[in-house]
Amino acid sequence: ASTLGAAAAQSGRYFGTAIAASRLGDGTYSSIAAREFNMITAENEMKPDATEPQRGQFNFSSGDQIYNWATQRGLKVRGHTLAWHAQQPSWWGGLSGSSLRQAMIDHINGVMAHYKGKLAAWDVVNEAFNEDGSRRGSNLQGTGNDWIEVAFRTARAADPSVKLCYNDYNIENWSYGKTQGVYNMIRDFKSRGVPIDCVGLQTHFTGGSSLPGNFQTTLQNFAALGVDVALTEVDVTNSSTSQYAGLTQACLNVPRCIGITVWGVRDSDSWRSSENPLLFDGGGNKKAAYTSVLNAL
Ligand code: XIL
Repeated sequence: ASTLGAAAAQSGRYFGTAIAASRLGDGTYSSIAAREFNMITAENEMKPDATEPQRGQFNFSSGDQIYNWATQRGLKVRGHTLAWHAQQPSWWGGLSGSSLRQAMIDHINGVMAHYKGKLAAWDVVNEAFNEDGSRRGSNLQGTGNDWIEVAFRTARAADPSVKLCYNDYNIENWSYGKTQGVYNMIRDFKSRGVPIDCVGLQTHFTGGSSLPGNFQTTLQNFAALGVDVALTEVDVTNSSTSQYAGLTQACLNVPRCIGITVWGVRDSDSWRSSENPLLFDGGGNKKAAYTSVLNAL
């Protein structure tokens, strides 16, 4: 195959990218994105601050711009994200306790109703753990330790057709506290019947040429709990070809690793642009890392 999406499809997987609505008018950007990828994540446009800027007043204009652009081209869409400590609407800052909990529930219901039946997956909860595996302190955590479980139960009821994911970074190394913390939560959810279908490993890699310890083992161990896994926001400092090839191979080696998403198109589009972490350079040319991924798929 000659594109990332088609190559990933050979094994039934997808290869995606994050898209910014503000860049879709850039012809180089949009043509690379539509050609190479078959799964799209909105980089910011489906986050809580974007979709519910005032309480009960939902705004899907930018999210729908990305959704429509993608689906008109036959590309699927992952939803990102419904509940997170960051990029919250400012009005959440004035709430706590049961009123914030209710606002979260109403937010999930409002956003999921709009996209009902349309998305491949939702990152229901994003980045809820500390590096040591304990729960991250946040206003949402302050509403009670069961906030994540409530978010997932609410999401399942709102749209039974969409896959529900927990998404986080620094959960790639099996011998790491945060990985264990997330793993224990997923195991607990599965044992108690809390609805969850997938774990997203953001896969923001920094430095070096080798993968975090036992990366493939981590994917296998999550999958063995009965969830799909996906690499959801991949970028790699200076686009290490060995790391890009390695993370691709690790996913391919795990049957329940369903796809890989890179967090942007060109280096110049990246939130880490100074690290040149993506598969296309600022001119839209394929980098060596692109070839290493394509060959591994
Ligand atoms: C980042 C976006 O890329 C930036 O444009 C924005 O300013 C901040 O958020 N983890 C996530 C993503 O789950 O939503 C973040 O995206 C990167 C880290």
